[in-house]
Amino acid sequence: MGLLNGKTAIVTGAARGIGKAIALKFASEGANVAFTDLVIDENAEKTVKEIEAFGVKAKGYASNAANFAETETVVNQIKDDFGTIDILVNNAGITKDGLMMRMSEAQWDAVIAVNLKSAFNFIHACTPIMMRQKNGSIINMASVVGVHGNAGQCNYSASKAGMIGLAKSIAQELGSRGVRANAIAPGFIITDMTAKLSDEVKEEWSKKIPLRRGGTPEDVADVATFLASDMSSYVTGQVIQVDGGMNM
Ligand code: NAI
Repeated sequence: MGLLNGKTAIVTGAARGIGKAIALKFASEGANVAFTDLVIDENAEKTVKEIEAFGVKAKGYASNAANFAETETVVNQIKDDFGTIDILVNNAGITKDGLMMRMSEAQWDAVIAVNLKSAFNFIHACTPIMMRQKNGSIINMASVVGVHGNAGQCNYSASKAGMIGLAKSIAQELGSRGVRANAIAPGFIITDMTAKLSDEVKEEWSKKIPLRRGGTPEDVADVATFLASDMSSYVTGQVIQVDGGMNM
């Protein structure tokens, strides 16, 4: 029996990378999976097929997670299509790095909107459903730089610190209604997002990692599965770092 049998999960920004790995792992544990991304292209449709191969229901929805009205519409559509929403993973994220002195207002606004406001949008739309059923698990994808900061990423670090504060506040507001909220803070995970970093930067990072390797999307998906499942039924308001020990 799967850890998530009979549950329905929403994963945002899951056409590829960490979100896709989470969607597949959830499906392998028996969850039906609705995921969103900016566009549902051939690649995203391939993801739908890969999820369905686990014998669960799957559908991809084109939606900009940063848009409040679009999010309300897509969550209502998912509720109609799937019947319930038990798990929400706020995973969609972008980087627009630069030192503060050179950072434009547009870089700041875009990262805060996609990385942080998106989570507000989805939590706002999903929690009435979770509260009614007195059960729900919300997982915010933060980052180790949201805990420790990072030069050249003030917008991204602030958005990820916000994801942690948001999860802790929701945990306090909705714990009595059966809704849990936690954050995952990945370190250096090998995906398209980190592929753009130079070899020098990657080498510098790996020197700081006691486990001496970058993480895989599956490393993050395993922790997300724990937080989504009843295995963590007494865990809320926490930040779990998945970083090979980079930050202790
Ligand atoms: P990725 O760039 O491979 O995938 C991100 C996905 O989000 C893409 O499919 C993209 O189309 C989607 N997306 C972007 N903007 C969106 C929007 N407005 N609405 C809906 N979907 C949107 O990135 P990756 O590495 O898989 O990252 C996933 C999450 O994990 C992000 O929140 C990221 O900040 C976080 N993270 C990643 C780390 C890493 O080392 N890769 C480390 C720490 C955190």
